[in-house]
Amino acid sequence: MKIKRFTGKAALHTEAAKLITQLLKDKPDCTLGFATGSTPIGIYEQLVGMYAKGRLSFARARSFNLDEYVGLTESHPQSYRYYMQHHLFRHTDFDQRNTYIPNGIAADLEAECRRYDSLLAEHPIDLQLLGIGHNGHIGFNEPGHSLTGETHLVTLKPETRAANARFFDSEDEVPRQAITMGMGSILKAKSILLVVTGADKAAVVNEALAGPITTACPASLLQTHANVTVLLDADAGKELP
Ligand code: F6R
Repeated sequence: MKIKRFTGKAALHTEAAKLITQLLKDKPDCTLGFATGSTPIGIYEQLVGMYAKGRLSFARARSFNLDEYVGLTESHPQSYRYYMQHHLFRHTDFDQRNTYIPNGIAADLEAECRRYDSLLAEHPIDLQLLGIGHNGHIGFNEPGHSLTGETHLVTLKPETRAANARFFDSEDEVPRQAITMGMGSILKAKSILLVVTGADKAAVVNEALAGPITTACPASLLQTHANVTVLLDADAGKELP
């Protein structure tokens, strides 16, 4: 595991965008794994800026998102499809047909999970961008006695719904379920880029990267992957030995 620390968020976002750009140059038809949430927004901004300057192209790339809420249409401002359109896809030359996000309004959600896994099997992820939740979740893989390998339907923990309530008018509006790639699918990515900022994540960063590998902290499973790069700002890294 390669850990890189940055004094500020801007330098960290630049480094993440640089790594993604390098991959696009080396392998224009690469498959990128994307995350949502507040952490990657600055990275997407950098990528959009570089695209506008003609420094990169997504025309031959594919993307998979980690997760999607159940019950939100793609026009709902809090759906992850909307987020990706808003922050990245519509500002670049991504071919929309090659951008995959679980369909949270599929009539048969189990069948949708299986469909997503077959797409992932067909197009292995070259680089998976990840954020981390305060409870150690990755995607919507929540801490528990066990974890699921494949894409699956999850019931969101109260703390995750509470953390995400800031994006909705009220906590009650936060969906109760989501579809997420499983830890197995995430760990199949050829490389992983974990990005964490802020003092509120310092404890979980320490737990995930320096603590025991346990389902009680799903992110700790990243310690088992051979090619993980972690980008931390000074606040997020302050509890790491
Ligand atoms: C969302 C996702 C989540 C977030 C995590 C951190 O696609 O994968 O696991 O990465 O909840 O969210 P932020 O970045 O908002 O702190």
